[in-house]
Amino acid sequence: MSGAALATTGAATGAGAATGAAFGKVILFGEHAVVYGAPAIAAGIERGARARATPAAGGRGSALGLGGRVHAAGEGEVGRAFAALLAALGPGVEVEVEAESELPPGGGLGSSAALGVAIARAIGAIGGGEAIAPARVLAAAAAWEGIFHGNPSGIDTTAAARGGCFRFTRAKGATPLSPPEDLRLCVGMTGISVSTREMVEGVARLFARKPELKQRSIEAITALVENAALAIEAGDRVGLGQLMDLNHMILAGMFVSAEPIERMCSLSREAGALGAKLTGAGGGGSVIALVEDEEVAGQVLEAWKGEGFEGFLTRVRGAEP
Ligand code: MEV
Repeated sequence: MSGAALATTGAATGAGAATGAAFGKVILFGEHAVVYGAPAIAAGIERGARARATPAAGGRGSALGLGGRVHAAGEGEVGRAFAALLAALGPGVEVEVEAESELPPGGGLGSSAALGVAIARAIGAIGGGEAIAPARVLAAAAAWEGIFHGNPSGIDTTAAARGGCFRFTRAKGATPLSPPEDLRLCVGMTGISVSTREMVEGVARLFARKPELKQRSIEAITALVENAALAIEAGDRVGLGQLMDLNHMILAGMFVSAEPIERMCSLSREAGALGAKLTGAGGGGSVIALVEDEEVAGQVLEAWKGEGFEGFLTRVRGAEP
C-alpha cells in the first residue's frame, strides 16, 4: 500500500471498479469512559486501510478478500460483518471487495474500523456518480464494527472516516480540535493482540461490581478530557503530557493496563516523553507517547526497540471542520 495521503471519499477507477481508504486512529483521552457517554479525544493517523470493490460476476454472491482469505458474505465472523455492512449500505448489486490494512489487527489502532470505512467507501463509489454521504459510510462501518465489538461507541469509525483531531461523545459525535502546531506522538505496539469486545465487557463487569469506581473513573476522565481539549487548542504540550499520565493511571485502576504497556510507558517517560498512556481498549495493543521534537521521538523509539517493541512517529493535525 502506498504511503500517499488517504482520501476521505471513495473513487471510481474505471471498468466498474472503485477504491476507498480510511485512517487508523489513536485515542488521546477517554477510551472506555466514552462507551458510557463520557467525552473522549481521538485523532486519525496516516497509517490506515484501503479497499477496492467491483460488481461481482453474475450470481457468485458478495465476497471480501482480506488477509489472504476470501470471506463469503454471511459466513464466519468477517463474512457476517461484511454482510451487516452490505445490508446497511444497500449497494443493490453483489460486490467483490479486496481490502488490506497497514495496522496490526487487535492492536488498538482502529484496524477494523478503518477497514469498515474503506470498504464502505469503495462500494459506495462503484459506478461513479455522487460521492456517498458520510453518514451512510459511518452507518455501514458501525454495522461492521458491531459484529466484532458488540457495543462500539463510534469513536473508532469516526476517526477512521474523518482523520484530524476531535472531541467525541456518543450523543453529539465529533467536534474538531485544532492544535496550533501538529502534535508529535510516538505510537508503540506491545505485539499483544486484544479483543476490544472482551476488554469492553471486562470493564462493564467491573463497573457492575463497583458502581462507585464507575462513577469516580468516569467523572475523573470527563474532567481530564475537558482540560485536554483546552490544552490542545492552547498548544500546551507539557500540560497535555501530564494529563495523558493521569488518564493512564485511571485506566490502570480500571484494570485495562498490562505489564508490557506499563513498561513501554515507563521507557517513554525515561526517554524524555512529555506523557504516555495506553491507547484504545488496552490489555495489550498499543501505547502513545507525546514528544516535544524529533530528537526525543528518536530516543523513545530507540528505547522501545531496545526491549523488542516496534513503534513509529506520527503527527496529529487539526480536524477538517
Ligand atoms: C476502542 O478503540 C475504544 C473503546 O473505548 C471502545 C469504544 O469506544 O468503542 C475501548
